[in-house]
Amino acid sequence: MKVLNFGSLNLDLVYQMEHFIRAGETFAASRLDKFPGGKGLNQSIALARAGAEVYHGGNVGPDGEVLVETLGNAGVDTRLIRRVEEVTGHAVIQVDSRGDNSIILYGGANMRVTSGQIDQVLEEFAPGDYLILQNEINRVGEIIEKAFEKGMLIVLNPSPMNEEIRKLPLEKVSFFLLNEIEGEELTGKREPGEILEELLIRYPHARIVLTLGEKGSVYADAEKRIYQDIYKVEAVDTTAAGDTFTGYFISTLIRTGSCQKALDMAARASAIAVSRKGAAPSIPTLDEVCGAGI
Ligand code: RIB
Repeated sequence: MKVLNFGSLNLDLVYQMEHFIRAGETFAASRLDKFPGGKGLNQSIALARAGAEVYHGGNVGPDGEVLVETLGNAGVDTRLIRRVEEVTGHAVIQVDSRGDNSIILYGGANMRVTSGQIDQVLEEFAPGDYLILQNEINRVGEIIEKAFEKGMLIVLNPSPMNEEIRKLPLEKVSFFLLNEIEGEELTGKREPGEILEELLIRYPHARIVLTLGEKGSVYADAEKRIYQDIYKVEAVDTTAAGDTFTGYFISTLIRTGSCQKALDMAARASAIAVSRKGAAPSIPTLDEVCGAGI
């Protein structure tokens, strides 16, 4: 079974800050790092490191070859990535002394997905293959419609959440992986139990994974709920922790068929990602996850 991740590729500029900058304030960062990132790229790397056969669809500009190389080195098939005459997507990220982040995103090449490109990419896939999507490229709705027609299984991580998400044909999504804030914005409910209930009323055939920060995560479908605690580590940088979770969850689910195992592996892998700097470089390999002793 193949996995297509049609998603963003970003250059991340990461500034280490004592605190997030306030309106009108000028404050010096103590360090600058440049990392490969983008929710799409991060999730492809996590999927591949966890053992899936992953193909990445998306765009880079002339300054984005390093991102294509990074994906290739992680074992992701990069032949479907298109080169466009536009600056590569990038993110300006502040990381504070607690490891929390705050992100400014510039879409650039990520927002140049065309209808023809979608058709060309989807041609390589068959019914039953997985499609993973986030919300950092354009034409997400069209990709969902066309992939659904083909009989692909659609996984949506509605991140970053915005008005565009509500306009998507969400009834065609098989899997939602989202955090509490995204769940609240999508459903208008605050309690995790209510968020899950509301999503299952709206999309009764969907399978949902809701991440709850320090409180762990929960899987829900029409028949069951499974809870998973976090593995506690000292947080250095939370960037890409959610992407690592998504990639490991889907990859493990494909490999083992077990939601319980998939939640556990996702929790272990994202804990390791939180304990390391950067987006893509923080994503552990399967051996690291299995041997971590957390
Ligand atoms: O989820 C983390 C990612 O969000 C970063 O790598 C950054 O590029 C933004 O897309």
